[in-house]
Amino acid sequence: MNGRRNTTEDDITNEVLQRFAQTPDPRLRQIMLSLIGHLHAFVKEVNLTEAEWFQAIEVLTKAGHMSDDKRQEFILFSDTLGASMVVDLRGHPKPDGATESTVFGPFHRLNAPEMPAGGNIAHLDRIGPAALVSGRVLGLDGRPIEGALLDVWQAQTSGLYDSQDPNLHEMHMRGKFHTDAEGRYLVRTVRPVHYPIPSDGPVGAMLRATGRHPWRPAHIHFVVSAEGYEPVTTHIFDSADEYLESDAVFAVKDSLICDFARHDTADGDARKLGVEPPYYTTEFDFRLKPASAESPNALDAQQRLAAIAAG
Ligand code: BEZ
Ligand code: FE
Repeated sequence: MNGRRNTTEDDITNEVLQRFAQTPDPRLRQIMLSLIGHLHAFVKEVNLTEAEWFQAIEVLTKAGHMSDDKRQEFILFSDTLGASMVVDLRGHPKPDGATESTVFGPFHRLNAPEMPAGGNIAHLDRIGPAALVSGRVLGLDGRPIEGALLDVWQAQTSGLYDSQDPNLHEMHMRGKFHTDAEGRYLVRTVRPVHYPIPSDGPVGAMLRATGRHPWRPAHIHFVVSAEGYEPVTTHIFDSADEYLESDAVFAVKDSLICDFARHDTADGDARKLGVEPPYYTTEFDFRLKPASAESPNALDAQQRLAAIAAG
């Protein structure tokens, strides 16, 4: 032996680190060196067996096979491991009066239909009670933003998104709304329900094996954007939901929790739109911060994620 062969685990770790130390891009170098350090330390700390290593390979392979234009098992892993929310919190530190962000999730679809104010995204949902969601989109100075775009999506009362529902071959529970001159928007839908995240794949197996439940508290998703402002990807949550404290993907933030008020007689917008009581209303104002040099690509990132889903 000439002494150049690796003999111990630490020799291997050091040699791998040395090879990656030549990475020209400094950010990629930092990420790779840290990844190797943590990965090797993890294998050593838990004393990972060959069988366990192989099981991990099988899990990742299954996740790949399950992922397509309707299903993203890797995002689901990231969400259920809390990684998505750590990335979210680092990317969007608690702001300065702007609406807080939360996970994007795997169920956004590109090209949701454009809807007028009061448009009904839930026209095929015959079970859930109607709900009107309204409010304004404002700048941090409180001025209304006209023409802001709200891309909205929600699970049906069955707990399934349109893309999960074998009986649906069209978009449902999705729409794009624009604000009026006073920054107002109005979405007609049904009251959101809690639903389990998909658990027929490796993420579900992980949740069961670790004694975790798959439920997400009732919510409605929004990406709100406007020219000159930083877009926000967020949800509003129903304050009455029993899973607010134990969201399977750790995405609840207090500032996003809304009361849904019940109405037994139709008035205001409900009367104009012909919504039959009983129905619910909730209000939420979105506050956007001005676009800055550090965050020019926030919407691009969303579109990239959606495009992965689109294949
Ligand atoms: C969702 O709310 O659509 C969602 C988010 C993360 C994981 C699964 C579903
Ligand atoms: Fe959702």
